[in-house]
Formats: sequence, structure tokens, C-alpha cells
Amino acid sequence: MSRIFSGVQPTGNLHLGNYLGAIRNFVGLQKDYECIYCAVDMHAITVWQDPADLRSNTREVAAAYLAAGVDPKNSIIFAQSTVPAHAELAWIFNCVARLGWLNRMTQFKEKAGKNRENASLGLYAYPSLMAADILAYKATHVPVGEDQKQHLELTRDIAQKFNNDYGTDTFPIVEPLIFGEATRVMSLRDGSKKMSKSDPSDYSRITFTDDRDAIALKLRKARTDADPLPDNEKDLEDRPEAANLVGIYAALSEQTRQDVLKEYAGAQFSTFKPALTELAVDKFGPVGEEMKRLMDDPAHVDAILKDGAERASALAEPVMKEVKETVGFLAP
Ligand code: TRP
Repeated sequence: MSRIFSGVQPTGNLHLGNYLGAIRNFVGLQKDYECIYCAVDMHAITVWQDPADLRSNTREVAAAYLAAGVDPKNSIIFAQSTVPAHAELAWIFNCVARLGWLNRMTQFKEKAGKNRENASLGLYAYPSLMAADILAYKATHVPVGEDQKQHLELTRDIAQKFNNDYGTDTFPIVEPLIFGEATRVMSLRDGSKKMSKSDPSDYSRITFTDDRDAIALKLRKARTDADPLPDNEKDLEDRPEAANLVGIYAALSEQTRQDVLKEYAGAQFSTFKPALTELAVDKFGPVGEEMKRLMDDPAHVDAILKDGAERASALAEPVMKEVKETVGFLAP
């Protein structure tokens, strides 16, 4: 059976974009793949995290996986830092990846911003750690949002160069699994920006902890334009806010945008927004409630993470043994 690896950063404010673009898609994969889902706390600290928040946010990612329907008996849920293979393999990959490759990473440029000299070395090496996450398990498929495609390309380049340099076929060449409608959920305040945990406006995102009233309020306040909904997807192209809301509706109802427009062509937002609110409360509300319930029982979540770490370590160990031998490290 092919193996899946994916990760979500425990940086707080988990939102609808994380759910529709990533976490929800993890659930269905469990029947066809062996799945490993990670809370990537080592990636999180590439930018400053308050330690108490990091602990809580790491549990929150695990709780979100569980609430969405990941089955911890079948799949592995764990925290990255509890399996040393990630750090070990990342170092080896730091010596395989080329500066030129990392210089092209758009996510680094975005996150480092204007003051690049002040970005952490870890932020720069982020993609190398991500390659290690995946390849420590020789995972073959990685479900991610559009924005992570470039990192997966780099993972493939690292695997290829490693295999080539050492004349082996140690690492598989991973395939991204990019999901359908609305994998890119945009800000409710600005349809040209991704929905983000770090947007200063709370109204830009619907989070896992929002209750019915909060969801309704945020959608009521969501930015739109003055026109009714068109009957054709093409006519949404230069209407980013309208396109975003239709996309969210489509993703939540598991239809295409075109299907949604078939039903709502000609409708004003005064009609469409309440319908979207109903749907969001119905489909996303219970997931958030379950996550909150799990967060009230941290010992339960920790036990699942511990079991996951043990199973993940058992999978990574033979890979690391093989890699270390290949590189020429002495056995301990
Ligand atoms: N970089 C990913 C993100 O920001 C998170 C991540 C870390 C990841 N390691 C991974 C995703 C390995 C998939 C596979 O969303």
C-alpha cells in the first residue's frame, strides 16, 4: 500500500482554509493509503512561538485531525519533534540541497519579508526539513494545498540528488495530491489574499473555535461586490470575493462551483450569504465543537500522540539505518 505523509503547523488560529485545503482531505485517504499525519512543531519554531502556546497549538492540530475524522487506530497522528529522525535526516538533506534551490523558494521570500538578514536560518532550511518529514517514511504521496507545490518539487530534487550522489534508489519520488474546489480559501476581507492565521483582522477567517454566531457574523460581514451571482463560473474571474464565497460553498457541499451557480444564478448576496452560513454551521460547526471537546481532555490527546510517535519511530528507524549506512556514518 502506498504511504501518505502530511503535516500542519501548530501556529494557532486553525481556520476553514486549513480544514478545506488540507485536514478534511486527510480523512478519505485513510481507506486507500497508510497515512501519517503530523503536527510540525519544529517547522513552527522557524518563527518565534511562545512555548505555552506551542504546546497547546500542537495538541490543537492533533485534536483537529481527530475531530475531522482521522482514525488514530488506523492512521498515525504525532508531533514532529518527538521523532528524532526528522531532525537527523534534515541535517543530511541540508548537505544535499543546494543554496540555489532554496534561494528560489517563494514561501521563504514571503515569510522573511523585507528584513531577510533577520530571518532565522531554520526558516531558510524549512523545505529541507519538510523533505525529511516525508522521506523519513519513504512516503510516496503528499496531500497539500497549491501553495506547497514548490516545496514538494524541492523534495523530489533532494530525493533525486541523494539517490544520484550515492548511486542508490533509497528515496521514492513523491507525488503531490492536490484537491479540487476551493483548496485555496481566501480572506473574507480581501479576495486576493489567502485566508491566514496571521491576518490582523479576525473577520478575515472562520476558525475551528468559532461558534454558530461567530460564523454567521463573519459571513454577514464578508466583503462582496454589488452584483448578483452569475450563471457561469467564467464570470467570477474578476470578482475575487464572490468567487471565494462560491468556492467555499462548493467545497463544503462537495459540488463544483458551476453546480453552485446553477442553483444560485441571479441570487443576491442577501440570499446567498445566509445559505452559506447554514451550510458552514452544519458542516464545519460540529468539527470545531469536537475539537474543543478534545481540547478539554489533553491527557487523551497526549496518549494518542505518544502512541503515534512510537509507531512513526518504528517506521522511520529502518529508513534512517539505511540512510546512515549509505552516507558512511558508523553504526552507533
Ligand atoms: N509546509 C507545510 C505547510 O505550511 C507543512 C508541512 C511540513 C508539510 N512538513 C510537511 C506538509 C510534510 C506536507 C508534508 O502547510
